[in-house]
Amino acid sequence: MDDENPIATIPDDPEARLVRAAELVAGHPWVARAEPAPGGRLRVTPDPAAISATPTPGPLLREHLEHWAEVYDWVYGTGEGRHADDLDLSGWRDSVTGAPLPREHMREWIDRTVELVLESNPRTVLEAGCGTGLLAHRLHGSLEGYVGTDVADIAVDRLSAAGLPRTGFVRAAAHEVDSPTVRRVTDAVLGPGVRPDCVVLNSVTQCFPNLDYLAAVVRGALAVVADGGTVVLGDIRHSALVERHFTELERTRDPQAPLEGIAERVRVAIAEDEELSFAPEAVREIVAASGRAVRISTRARTMAAATELTRYRYDLVLHIGDRAGPPVEYIPWSGPELLSEKARTAHAGAPVVVHGIPNGLVDETPDTPTPYALRAALAGIDAAVLVDGGDPRLLAVAVPASAAPAAQRVAAPAPGPAAGEPFPAFLRRRLAELLRDHLRRVAPGLPLPPLDLAGRPSREAV
Ligand SMILES: C[S@@+](CC[C@H](N)C(=O)[O-])C[C@H]1O[C@@H](n2cnc3c(N)ncnc32)[C@H](O)[C@@H]1O
Repeated sequence: MDDENPIATIPDDPEARLVRAAELVAGHPWVARAEPAPGGRLRVTPDPAAISATPTPGPLLREHLEHWAEVYDWVYGTGEGRHADDLDLSGWRDSVTGAPLPREHMREWIDRTVELVLESNPRTVLEAGCGTGLLAHRLHGSLEGYVGTDVADIAVDRLSAAGLPRTGFVRAAAHEVDSPTVRRVTDAVLGPGVRPDCVVLNSVTQCFPNLDYLAAVVRGALAVVADGGTVVLGDIRHSALVERHFTELERTRDPQAPLEGIAERVRVAIAEDEELSFAPEAVREIVAASGRAVRISTRARTMAAATELTRYRYDLVLHIGDRAGPPVEYIPWSGPELLSEKARTAHAGAPVVVHGIPNGLVDETPDTPTPYALRAALAGIDAAVLVDGGDPRLLAVAVPASAAPAAQRVAAPAPGPAAGEPFPAFLRRRLAELLRDHLRRVAPGLPLPPLDLAGRPSREAV
């Protein structure tokens, strides 16, 4: 009877209407529970299977992943930054001005990333989220085999058509590196059963919905990478720097705005941030739970120009296997002379980590070294410029670069949040749309009450 004439089932009494809405919303397949809440609101618990990252992403999480596939298919389709087949910078824009990031800066960004990937001398590389092939074009000549995956069809089609020797490309998401789809291509390009020496995820994690998904991806990467190899997570947005980044954005957009106004806009921007950010600590936790011996190094971005790619991002290298190196000498920073004398001479002897170096990209006191200045000071030396532990206000230098994972022993905790996850805000928006449509279908005329999402629609909730 109800189904034949749903309009007749809408009660007049507001409380009864709320109860009716709760009953109907609870009938949606992606909702576990719905109950009336104070203030005429509806408290909704999403079905954990709809939002979980494992064993395979649930439908609501998949929608988030598909959203980014559509964004990049569109961005690459415009070809607005396509300077050459091997230099397609479509999508690389300054988030303050919207202008393309300078080509020279991007070339340096590519060079530094290629160096980081090749630092461990891999013979084979699997890159998840390979995009337009900025890395693929430059890496494949140094490798016995390279496989790239991406969720954007246009990226995969173009790179497949480019016919680069000893490469293969396939449409797959980052959580699928250990799937039959990707294995078929790695078997064909790298050799049957051959594991890549290096798995790269460069400038991809910002598209991830939450730490759950990041954990699934890191676990997949650790499952496929060869012993003694590396997993490079590059160009990561640091969660402890998001507030600083958004403050810079708002100040530049509206230099006359009062401080309180800026602070409020920044608060809103953080709540609506559509991209994932996290501190190294988040990956340390994921790795600790993986059961594989992994040492981690946290790299600073050492390009010359101070842009958002240098100021607010960092790289993580996961070194697989617990090869204990020679003992490391730890030297607290006491000034530039220390770097030039001790670190240089120590290179001939025991490995050295100079730590607690103020980061000139964050601390604007004159003469504070930037990662670029440190790199320049160490030119010609086998060294790595690091973020000191998780704290982006501090840098460290490891000499030789292979001592970089040892620097984590003097790790400072990151100030600020361990992560900023976009999925909760996405879920709130998307569930409201879905449930409004659902009510329109099953009870036309019954409005959807304002929603409260129960639980934390992320790690703890699933
Ligand atoms: C900023 S581009 C980086 C491309 C490339 N890694 C580089 O360094 O030049 C981000 C790429 O990640 C891809 N992507 C986004 N979400 C993904 C996911 N869940 N799995 C795999 N690739 C993804 C996008 O399609 C896009 O090509």
